[in-house]
Amino acid sequence: MGSYLDGGSIRAPRKCAAIIFYVSFCMARKHLRAVLFGPQGSGKGTQGRMLADYFGVPLIGAGELFRAEIQEKSALGKLVKSYVSRGALVPDELANAVMQKRLKAIHLDHGFLLDGYPRNVDQAESLDTIVKMNLALQIKISDVESLRRLLGRRQCMGCKAAFHAEDYPSTKPNVCDVCGQKVVQREDDNEEVIRARLAAYHFMTEPLASYYRQQGVLLAVKGEQPVPSLYEELVRKIRKLGFVPAKKSV
Ligand code: AP5
Repeated sequence: MGSYLDGGSIRAPRKCAAIIFYVSFCMARKHLRAVLFGPQGSGKGTQGRMLADYFGVPLIGAGELFRAEIQEKSALGKLVKSYVSRGALVPDELANAVMQKRLKAIHLDHGFLLDGYPRNVDQAESLDTIVKMNLALQIKISDVESLRRLLGRRQCMGCKAAFHAEDYPSTKPNVCDVCGQKVVQREDDNEEVIRARLAAYHFMTEPLASYYRQQGVLLAVKGEQPVPSLYEELVRKIRKLGFVPAKKSV
């Protein structure tokens, strides 16, 4: 009979302890249930894609969902096109229905990152009835910078990667560095529509900051810095709050 001092008996409790540690680590892992908001061009899509990958959660972009429907010329697409093309918000009932249907299709307990939803306090209250956010990220930039970025934005038709004609051009003109598909200018990225989108942001979306501050989940950062340094700041601050990466480290 082996004693506690022989190799086999020691390995068994160690293995057991390792399993218990791993299971409790997984159970204790705090999953992001986050919303990303900020003025147009603040980098929600750019940072959202990288953060979702880093923290291993799905990114759900309201604007991308609407644009996909418009591109497919679906009934919903026809309905939302008139709002999106002039920079107005899609009516709350519609936005809530589309996003909540999408949310019901994923495991909410495993976490997610929302880009562009909610966009006003009514939408936030509606979302709260389904799931409570544990983080609200606000990226702040000026209107001047927003306009400069969006007028230069080029977006991949395939993977939706964002480029900028001057700051972050694709290596080959109009070809995506990530997936090789065509890079184009978004229809709503013209000065008149951008100004309308910014007005909607200041009037309707900005109040989300005090809404989420009251819930104790607001993290606001300055967005006028290069993409990599903003990403590093966000990762560092989010990790400090106890959220752990899926597997990699920055
Ligand atoms: P949506 O697609 O969400 O557009 P948006 O809010 O106008 O935001 P953008 O996509 O323009 O900006 P972004 O912050 O993602 O910037 P990006 O990373 O691309 O919504 C579109 C429309 O859908 C709305 O107008 C509305 O009609 C409707 N809608 C959506 N959600 C709705 C809702 N909940 N309710 C009702 N209606 C809704 O970056 C922009 C550019 O800047 C790029 O060129 C990029 O390369 C560059 N860039 C990014 N970061 C940096 C940096 N740090 N420094 C320099 N350049 C940078």
